[in-house]
Amino acid sequence: MLKNLFSPIEIGRVRISNRLVVPAMVMNYCHRDGTATEKYVAYHEAKARGGWGLIITEDYAVDPKGKGFSNVPGLWNDTQVESHSKLARRIHDLGGKIFAQIYHAGRQTSRALIGDQPVAPSPIPCPRLQEIPHALRANEIREIVEEFGDCALRARKAGFDGIEIHGAHGYLIAQFMSPYSNKRIDDYGGNLLNRMRFPLEIVSNVRSKAGSDFPVLFRISGDEMVPGGRTIEDTKTMAAMLEEAGVDALHISAGVYGSAYAITPPAAIRHGWIVHFAEEVKKVVDIPVITVGRINDPFLAETIIAGKKADLVAMGRASLADPELPKKAAAGRFADINYCIGCLQGCIGMISRSLPATCLVNPTLGKEKELRTKPADLKKKVFIAGAGPAGMEAAMVAAKRGHEVHLFEKADRLGGQFYTASIPPSKGEIAGFIVWQRKQLEENHVSVYLNNKLTEEIVNEQKPDVVVLATGSAPVSPNLPGVKRANVVTAHEVLEGKTDVGRRVAVIGGGMVGSETANHLANHGKEVSIIEMLPEIATDVNARSKPFLLKDLTEHSVRLYLNSTVKEVLADGLRIEKEGREEEIGPFDTVILAVGLEPCNELRSKLEGKVSRLITIGDAVSPRKALEAIAEGYLAGLEV
Ligand SMILES: Cc1cc2nc3c(=O)[nH]c(=O)nc-3n(C[C@H](O)[C@H](O)[C@H](O)COP(=O)(O)O)c2cc1C
Repeated sequence: MLKNLFSPIEIGRVRISNRLVVPAMVMNYCHRDGTATEKYVAYHEAKARGGWGLIITEDYAVDPKGKGFSNVPGLWNDTQVESHSKLARRIHDLGGKIFAQIYHAGRQTSRALIGDQPVAPSPIPCPRLQEIPHALRANEIREIVEEFGDCALRARKAGFDGIEIHGAHGYLIAQFMSPYSNKRIDDYGGNLLNRMRFPLEIVSNVRSKAGSDFPVLFRISGDEMVPGGRTIEDTKTMAAMLEEAGVDALHISAGVYGSAYAITPPAAIRHGWIVHFAEEVKKVVDIPVITVGRINDPFLAETIIAGKKADLVAMGRASLADPELPKKAAAGRFADINYCIGCLQGCIGMISRSLPATCLVNPTLGKEKELRTKPADLKKKVFIAGAGPAGMEAAMVAAKRGHEVHLFEKADRLGGQFYTASIPPSKGEIAGFIVWQRKQLEENHVSVYLNNKLTEEIVNEQKPDVVVLATGSAPVSPNLPGVKRANVVTAHEVLEGKTDVGRRVAVIGGGMVGSETANHLANHGKEVSIIEMLPEIATDVNARSKPFLLKDLTEHSVRLYLNSTVKEVLADGLRIEKEGREEEIGPFDTVILAVGLEPCNELRSKLEGKVSRLITIGDAVSPRKALEAIAEGYLAGLEV
C-alpha cells in the first residue's frame, strides 16, 4: 500500500532503505561537555529498531561557543569522538543509517549559556534572545569555516554515515544567508552570491577534509517567515548553488527564532504545510529533497512522495510519539501507531526550560531502558478507577505486563477530560490518542466497565490486589452570588455538548480552559466575552500555540475584561470589579465557569488500609496537564 514510502533511495553513496527520516531534534540528553550519554544512545536505538530509513542526530556544535542548548552533543574536539562512535556503532548494529547534524548557533544563543558574547554576521540581536552579538571579522569567519570541516571529519571518524550542515532556522549559517540578519558590506554580505560565500566555503571545507565521498546534506529554511527574511525564490537559487557545490541532498524546513512557530509548528498549523517549498526546490535541483513539518501519518507521507513533491519525508515529533512508526506502517498495523498530536508540551516545552525532552503521548521517550515493560513476576488482579488518560495508560501497561486489569469509568465514554480538551479548534488530534489507548486496552484484554463507578463495596466484595485511583478532577464552583442561576454552566458541560448556550456568552476565567472554550464558541458564531483576573489570558498555553489562539479570539471579536474580578452573576449580566471600580457588563444569555479544577479522590480515604496496594495518579493527586497524568499512568502500570 505504501510502496513509494518503502522504496530505497541513495544520498550520495549511502543507500537509505525507505523514505522516512528522523530530523534533527535537540533532546538535551548529552553531557554538558558534549559527549554522549547512554540515555542519548538508547533514544536513537529505539528509532533504529523502529525502522526509520535515516536518522539525523540533533545539532553537534562545531565550537563550544556555538552551542544553543545546554546538553547538546559536540564534536569540537577529538576527545569527543569516541563517545559518539559508540552511537554510530550501535545504530549500525541495528541496521540503521545515521547522519550527524553540525551547526553553530551564532546569535541564537546567550552569554549565560556559552560564557561569552554570541557571534553573528552583524551586530543585530536575535529578537527572541535580545543579546547584541559580536560581528565576526573575516579571520574569525575563516576559523569557523575550518571548524565545520574539522567537525565533519570527526563525524566521519566517529562512524556516522554522513552529515547534515544546519543552514536553517536562523542559526549562524542562515544568519549569513539572509538579508534579515546579514547587513555586512564586505564580501560576505549584500548580494545573494556574497551571502552564500560562508555556506559555500563550509561545504568546500567539509568536502576537502571529510572526503568528497562523505555524504553531505544541507538543511535550509524554505522561507524565513519574518519581515525582510529570505523567501522561497531566494531558497531555490541557493539550493541550485548548493547542488553545484556538491551537496548530496537538501532538507527544506522553515522559520528562524523570530518565527519559531514555523520551526516547530503547533497543532494550529496544518499537516504538511510547507511541502510546497520542497516541491519548488525539486524543480531546480536533481539531488534528493527532504520535506518536513507537521507530517505525522504514513499515508500523508506516501502521498507526498507519490506526488513527487519530495523524495523523503522527515517526521520529527511523530518519531518521538512513536519510534516504531515505520515498522508498524510497513506491517499494516496502522491502528497501533501512536500519532503525534502537535501539543509541544513534552518536547519543546521541556527543552525551552533546559530540561530533557519528554513526550505527552509517549512517556518512554528518553527513558527507553528504565521504562521497558517487563512481564510481571506475579499476576495480580488490578482495579483502576477512572478511564481518563492516566487510568487508561496505567491499565494498558499493567495489562501488557500480564496482570488481570479491570477499568471502571463512571461516565459513558473513555478519555475523561482529555476528550473534553479535544473539542476546541486545533485540538481534534487529541481524540486520536484516546482512540489509540482504547485500541491498546482491547488488544491487551483489559475489562472496561463504562457507566460503572468503582466503589468501596465493589472493592470489598471483589478483593483486587491493587487499586489505582485515576479519578481525575472536577470544575470548581466559585462562591459567588448568583452562581446557582439557571444560565450558569461549566466550560466542561459546554465542551461536552451537555448544555445549550445562548448567543451572548460570558466566560469567567481566561486560563487555557476558559480561552479555548471561548474560542470554540466564537468559532460557532457566539458573541463571547472573557473575564480574567490576571492582566493577560491563556498564561498556561504553550508559547508556540498561544499566538494562534489569541489571533483567533481577536478575529472573532472576543471581548476581554482583564484585571477584572467577577463579584456577582446578575439576571442578565455580571457585576465586575476592575482596578477598584465596580461596573455591570452584559447582557449575557449564558455564563460559563472556567475557574479551575479540584481533585476527585474521595475513594482514597475509604480504601486506605483496606487494599494491599493503593496508588493515586493524575489529577486525582492534584489537577495538572495530561503530560503528567499520562506519565504517572505509565509508571503506575509498571509499579503494580
Ligand atoms: C524538541 C525539538 C528539537 C529540535 N531541534 C532541532 C535541531 O537541533 N536541529 C534542527 O534542524 N531542527 C530541530 N527541530 C526541528 C525539527 O527537526 C523539525 O523540523 C520540526 O520539529 C518540524 O517537524 P515535525 O512537525 O515533524 O516535528 C527540533 C524540533 C523539536 C520538536
